[in-house]
Amino acid sequence: MSAANRSLVIAASILASDFANLGQETRDVSAAGADWIHLDIMDGHFVPNITFGPSLVAALREQSEKTFDCHLMIEPCDPFLEAFATAGADRITIHAEATRHLDRSLQAIRALGKKAGVALNPATPPAAIEFVLDHLDLVLVMTVNPGFGGQTFIPEMVDKVALVRQMIGERAIDIEVDGGVTSETAPRLVAAGANALVAGSAVFKGGRAAYGEHIAALRRSVVASGRLA
Ligand code: DX5
Ligand code: ZN
Repeated sequence: MSAANRSLVIAASILASDFANLGQETRDVSAAGADWIHLDIMDGHFVPNITFGPSLVAALREQSEKTFDCHLMIEPCDPFLEAFATAGADRITIHAEATRHLDRSLQAIRALGKKAGVALNPATPPAAIEFVLDHLDLVLVMTVNPGFGGQTFIPEMVDKVALVRQMIGERAIDIEVDGGVTSETAPRLVAAGANALVAGSAVFKGGRAAYGEHIAALRRSVVASGRLA
């Protein structure tokens, strides 16, 4: 399947879930129809917040068979790649700014048998990935500044998604967006070329009974674009 007509992926970010009940939350959002579980790893250094590490990823691994989409906001990232792979990550995304040798880090992720992604901060131009496309399975376009859930979507990022889409052409590389993704912002992002939507607040608001409807609402919102299955 070419990149241009991939299926839509909803990646539920458990950053917005109830941390006192993470196992249950992971089971609930998996049953509610999330395609991927998005795990935000923050180190208090690359971003101004701290979340959790590989041992928590390993504990949650037993709660869900969904794809574990690990978003590493840690610098340097290289010393922890193997730990997250062993913990059960299926996909590991690192920030272009968080490694001195991006090409080497991406090769290391693939050598661990995992899908490799690069995240671009709002101020980071698409050119950061221009010469590593052959080592990439995913580009994560940050649509807020990383570090916290519940922030306001940065509209200029729609144009960046379009530029990334143009750059990757028909290569089998996913374009994921992260931050402020809702039924209002998702259609513009998908129309510009995104196929994977990270959603935290938009999924986990309102309690577990509503997760399925929130995920379905996100899917419905992008159907009109006609780009994705
Ligand atoms: C922010 C994280 C996001 C966050 C998104 O640094 O990378 O994954 O959970 O949260 P919402 O969907 O609430 O903007
Ligand atoms: Zn994230």
